[in-house]
Amino acid sequence: MRTFERLESEVRGYIRSFPTIFKTARNAVLTDQHGHDYIDFLAGAGTLNYGHNNPVLKQAVLDYVNADGIVHGLDMATSAKKDFLNAFEQRILKPRHMHYKLQFTGPTGTNAVEAAIKLARKVTGRRNVVAFTNGFHGVTLGALSLTGNRKYRDAAGVALADVHHAPYSGYLGMEVDTIAILDKLIGDPSSGVDLPAAVIVECVQGEGGLNVAGLNWLRHLEQLCRRHQVLLIVDDIQAGCGRTGGFFSFEQAGIAPDLITLSKSLSGFGLPMALLLLKPELDVWKPGQHNGTFRGNNLAFVTATAALDHYWADGRFQRSVEFKAGTVGAFLDKLVSNYPAAQMTRRGRGLMQGLAFADPALADAVTSIAFQNGLIIETSGGRDEVVKLLMPLTIEPERLLAGLDILEGALAEAVSHLPARFVHPNQEVHA
Ligand SMILES: Cc1ncc(COP(=O)(O)O)c(C=O)c1O
Repeated sequence: MRTFERLESEVRGYIRSFPTIFKTARNAVLTDQHGHDYIDFLAGAGTLNYGHNNPVLKQAVLDYVNADGIVHGLDMATSAKKDFLNAFEQRILKPRHMHYKLQFTGPTGTNAVEAAIKLARKVTGRRNVVAFTNGFHGVTLGALSLTGNRKYRDAAGVALADVHHAPYSGYLGMEVDTIAILDKLIGDPSSGVDLPAAVIVECVQGEGGLNVAGLNWLRHLEQLCRRHQVLLIVDDIQAGCGRTGGFFSFEQAGIAPDLITLSKSLSGFGLPMALLLLKPELDVWKPGQHNGTFRGNNLAFVTATAALDHYWADGRFQRSVEFKAGTVGAFLDKLVSNYPAAQMTRRGRGLMQGLAFADPALADAVTSIAFQNGLIIETSGGRDEVVKLLMPLTIEPERLLAGLDILEGALAEAVSHLPARFVHPNQEVHA
């Protein structure tokens, strides 16, 4: 690791949590240079929903490169882009009766978010945007102004302006209707909150600690937006592409956002790609007004098209995700009741679930021990207090169970190190 310490910036992150040199990977297993296998419950922070080196996607990209397909074409028309546009329309938009245009932004999620808020401000002529507590939308300045966590905000160096942070679903306790609060603030010309251009929301907050927006809460949020003629942006960068079951995380709520951001698992192969879906009447861009050299990563178009054709032609993939989500949920419930000393609650939805610990140090201990025992798993949340399970959706059932077993072992070991005074009297200490 000395090469990395000597040459790579201090800003490096995941390398510190998982200090080994990874060499190869297949589906839900990463192998390091010493030949040690690790089950992957991180999946590139939600980028590898279809697993590492998915053979279907790999073959598609190999065939394309072997045929000298266009790799870089700015945002010119290519056959790879055309195939992706058609596949996205056929597999995703049409079956859901969705009418959107596609904007290819720079290839990171944060750039899709930048495009979304820039467009919302341009369309409405307003500056303010509402984002939610614990939201994470990226770290470029526009997106960073929407992101809640001080750890990231403190690095901005400039004012993060023109954003009002409102309490998310459940933030003030389940009995408090946070939509009613926002409604009152937006509707009151004297509240001090400017009429926003848009509201941006994650249906499940990935980095913010797996907080789940209630389905009714989302419906009421949409109604609020319509009432005040404010655009609704769903940031589906982490929760989309099947992570919560359906292709989009808002499908269960039955809402129709004006703008939708997608990235992470869109290419399906870990290739950078980001997309803004916009209702056609909002498409007021002038040519090239939001641009970037790497708009339209053709290799990503190829793998994304293969992923759509392979996994989204019928409902089988979604059902398999829902089944695995049930397994994970039941397992986590069991951990919560079997280890009361750890003071955990289950969070999340779909294959985006986790355990929130009263003590962040315990969450940290669990992930460190898990890594020593061959499981890659990270924390999220405002205080890094939530252990987040984000395995590839394609994980083999036996490997899923093996990963869950390692997690339980790590939890048992971490709990056994708790000072005696923290151990619940009925708690059996698992060795
Ligand atoms: C919901 C959400 N939005 C935006 C982003 C930013 O994406 P990127 O890291 O590709 O810029 C992330 C990244 O984790 C995310 O989870």
